[in-house]
Amino acid sequence: MMNSKIIAVSNIKGGTGKSTICANLAVALSANSKVLTIDIDKPQFTLNNYFRHKENPKFDHIKLEDENQLEQIIEDNKKYDYIIIDTPGSLNNAMKKACELADIFLTPISDSRFDLDVIGQFSPEDKKFTPGCYANIIWDARKHKLIKRKEQLKWIIVPNKLSVRITNNQRKIMILLKKMQSSLGFSLCSGVKDRVVFKELFNEGKTVFDLPPSKLNISNISAKNEIRSIIFHINNLNKD
Ligand SMILES: Nc1ncnc2c1ncn2[C@@H]1O[C@H](COP(=O)(O)OP(=O)(O)OP(=O)(O)O)[C@@H](O)[C@H]1O
Ligand SMILES: [Mg+2]
Repeated sequence: MMNSKIIAVSNIKGGTGKSTICANLAVALSANSKVLTIDIDKPQFTLNNYFRHKENPKFDHIKLEDENQLEQIIEDNKKYDYIIIDTPGSLNNAMKKACELADIFLTPISDSRFDLDVIGQFSPEDKKFTPGCYANIIWDARKHKLIKRKEQLKWIIVPNKLSVRITNNQRKIMILLKKMQSSLGFSLCSGVKDRVVFKELFNEGKTVFDLPPSKLNISNISAKNEIRSIIFHINNLNKD
């Protein structure tokens, strides 16, 4: 691969699964590619704390206290195929830096109306969408990238923690997201289900990709496939 794909896993809402998705992507991608993860979510550094327990990782990891060094770190690490940045769940300076430098924004959201509101709001009266506060941040980042670097920023939304049995609420949220995607300029991934295995393994510094074949049941195999579908989405963005 010629250029690193710089992926910011981001949402201004906290707890939507950013660090969990970063960890799973890093382990899955590092089976065949060179991967660097960067945790800029100070002071909690969830991803870093998680990786502290990891045995023999196949990827490299940086805990970054000073986000002003992010540009130089990316510049110095172009040998990686993927640079995955775990960002804070709020609009602070670290998040702004990631906005300036990423090629791809990967946004996990849960199926609550409040998560959807930061992306966009639908007005039933005039059947129009108003961009939410997070969509406006992405819009500014997109303009910045286009003007400064003549490059397109890509935005992927990943519905996360979807109930295994599809609920009416989930159905409504998915319909709204599908309607919003062309006007707000994101592409929609099929999503990741709410699975205890993500939570349990996270506490042990593991992911579903670390499980031995003897521990793979249908739910764990589906969990792996959900993460692989995000990777497929990332790798096929330019063919949109
Ligand atoms: N698909 C999933 N199924 C079950 N639990 C999940 C899933 N994704 C994330 N979680 C759990 O949700 C909680 C929040 O996840 P995580 O820490 O990854 O979110 P975050 O967006 O990084 O949070 P923060 O904004 O605080 O950085 C954790 O307990 C995690 O184990
Ligand atoms: Mg996090």
